[in-house]
Amino acid sequence: MTESGTMVRGNSAWPGVMEHYRPFLPVEPGEPVVTLREGNTPLLEAPRLGAVLGGIRLYFKLEGCNPTGSFKDRGMTLAMSKAVLRGARAVVCASTGNTSAAAAAYAARAGLPCYVVVPGGQVARGKLAQALMHGALLVQVDGNFDQGLAAVRALAGEHREVELVNSVNPYRLEGQKTAAFEVVDQLGEAPDLLAIPVGNAGNITAYWRGFCEYQRAGLASGRPRLLGVQAAGAAPLVEGRPVARPETVATAIRIGNPASGPLALQAVAESGGMLTAVSDEEILDASRLLAQTEGIFAEPASAASLAGLRRHAGAGLLAEGMTVVCVLTGHGLKDPETALPQGPQPIRAASPDAASLAGALGL
Ligand code: F0G
Repeated sequence: MTESGTMVRGNSAWPGVMEHYRPFLPVEPGEPVVTLREGNTPLLEAPRLGAVLGGIRLYFKLEGCNPTGSFKDRGMTLAMSKAVLRGARAVVCASTGNTSAAAAAYAARAGLPCYVVVPGGQVARGKLAQALMHGALLVQVDGNFDQGLAAVRALAGEHREVELVNSVNPYRLEGQKTAAFEVVDQLGEAPDLLAIPVGNAGNITAYWRGFCEYQRAGLASGRPRLLGVQAAGAAPLVEGRPVARPETVATAIRIGNPASGPLALQAVAESGGMLTAVSDEEILDASRLLAQTEGIFAEPASAASLAGLRRHAGAGLLAEGMTVVCVLTGHGLKDPETALPQGPQPIRAASPDAASLAGALGL
């Protein structure tokens, strides 16, 4: 009910992250806002997995519930709005998939052309479908994400009319920090620990900034320790050196030389947390566990955060009664090809009648 006592119908009250968190963002009243009403994603308690992990209070932040199915929308609303404000003629990004999907959707909303550069053969099908469906011009390069990012940075440097919307664009991280605000608003306090997958290292940096700003504003009494999780075949921050040929089933975080690496290392250190690496097998195990014990379908890169927690359960990082938030960055529908072999395989019924069905199901 509103103050005047009328019923609010639907979710029309949520305006998107720029309007909702405007006092914390570099946005003046009256500036253009390109939004798909991103943010306000569920923070879901997971008591069964919390018990398995030693009696922690475990929550999942479901960023796959954003309009394009990943957390990228939080930063893209701001980056696209600023691109419009400065009169950019087009936007460009390099991407392992999700950034390209978000850029393409928000560019469509803004009426701007969108150019995306992706590593050939390594992007999950759902993400490709999104970028193309939203009308982006997609360039596949014979190289990895790191090389693609270097190329688009140089391109945007030479063609000033084209706005770069990767997370090296400062507005991206400003928008993404709103996820930390939401976690605190939803829990009523900062969690003790936040587990999060790390690729180009922008998101973990943005969360830390958000937690610090909320604490400074007196809206949280503490800040969480950060557990940043990389895939073992693409773990430059854990290994302390760039990885020339990153490899992992979690293609979203198949990154060997993260642009925000130094900021992420600083954030983890300030938080008293740690970085860890998990194998592809641990990632796929965690994604099955999420899907089959909690009903949550997350893409492999997202499941890395749960895999990291499982690896450290009982190793001193987790203690009974602790509040832990695990960030699930993207929706499982993004990557059906990786998911399909993971669950039970389809069975055939001899004919479409009850007896055949009962036979096939073993009833
Ligand atoms: N999870 C998902 C689902 C992602 O798509 C990404 C990054 C990350 C985690 C890691 O976040 O880079 O801020 O450390 N995807 C980028 C992209 C690189 O192009 O979509 P990060």
